[in-house]
Amino acid sequence: TSELKKVPIPRKGVDYRGKIVLAPMVRSGELPSRLLALHYGADLVWGPETVDRSMIGTTRRYNPDTKTIEWTRKPSQGSSAPPGPDVKDSIIYRVHPEKEAGKLIFQIGTSNPDLAVQAARLVAADVAGIDVNAGCPKPFSTHDGMGAALLKTPDKLCAILEALVANIVPEFEIGISVKIRILETAELTEALVRRLVATGIAGLTVHCRTTPMRPRERAIRGQLRMIANVCHEAGVACVMNGDVGSRDEALQLIQEYGVDGAMIATQAEKNPSCFRAEAEGGPLPWADVVRQYIQYTLELENKFGNTKFMLTQLIPGKSPVYRDISPCKSYTRICEMLGYDDLMERAREVDLILDIDPGNSGKQ
Ligand code: FNR
Repeated sequence: TSELKKVPIPRKGVDYRGKIVLAPMVRSGELPSRLLALHYGADLVWGPETVDRSMIGTTRRYNPDTKTIEWTRKPSQGSSAPPGPDVKDSIIYRVHPEKEAGKLIFQIGTSNPDLAVQAARLVAADVAGIDVNAGCPKPFSTHDGMGAALLKTPDKLCAILEALVANIVPEFEIGISVKIRILETAELTEALVRRLVATGIAGLTVHCRTTPMRPRERAIRGQLRMIANVCHEAGVACVMNGDVGSRDEALQLIQEYGVDGAMIATQAEKNPSCFRAEAEGGPLPWADVVRQYIQYTLELENKFGNTKFMLTQLIPGKSPVYRDISPCKSYTRICEMLGYDDLMERAREVDLILDIDPGNSGKQ
């Protein structure tokens, strides 16, 4: 009985045990942010929730300029406007097959087993796992029965997981996981988790907040040990999430609660070098992180709006630089402002590629 039961890890899948991972984050989990987290030592990265219907109908292609695989669709799809000849396809999802190899988990937003399988099929050969979002409390997710709404429809959630286990695992040899929140009582959570771990999933992440709890409220750890035990009885890896601030804190919490891994969101959004162990020097100053981030965004020709948004996360609001960033409307201006002389040439190139006026700073 000393031997630990384990749901078999598929050949191309990952074992979530012992891993400190980047949480799925819409906007804040785009490709440059994920590479940054990996650069600083994240063991695995979750992509931003992608809704099944937005993936279905996309075309997969390799982009040699950025060395990425992109799933794109015509912007006119679903609208009545005729497509212009030079209107660019929009990128719904993209991965870096070298840098994210064996490290990326695709998170799906779904409330339908068939659509979930259809969407998962499109990416399954290019990722290391498929995760189902059963924790997002935002109305855009729950109104369609997705995200945290699935916690109230366990039959549906189990049907989705079973469909993915049956249709994705044997063919693509990757694992399925689910991300949930705790319920109001330990009894309710236990009943749910018992059902989930019986579906054939390999991992379960629990965000230690209830659905009505706001992000600022402290995570509740009281149910964690029980959840880990229920997962372990079934051989499923249990990853904890909620108010984990750094790799060292994560390792401590893993010990304390008997969970297998830990997932970091908010702290990684603010400073992804939180994945660096104290023994390796620990988290770095924001200026170092921002420089590395800009290098990735230039390499990956990242959408400028996303880059600007991330800079407002990475640069502390009290720094004078924060204020200086807001009028910058091009990569050239940003590099100028931050004093990245060696990146200026590439910044101009990327501005051209993305159709951004390099001199456009909002001021002259
Ligand atoms: C999130 N979260 C989230 N969760 C999820 O399952 N799919 C998603 O796409 C997102 N998107 C998202 C965006 C942003 C900007 C934030 C801050 C959060 C929730 C996240 O993964 C995590 O569960 C919570 O933030 C709790 O972890 P922290 O923040 O306490 O480390």
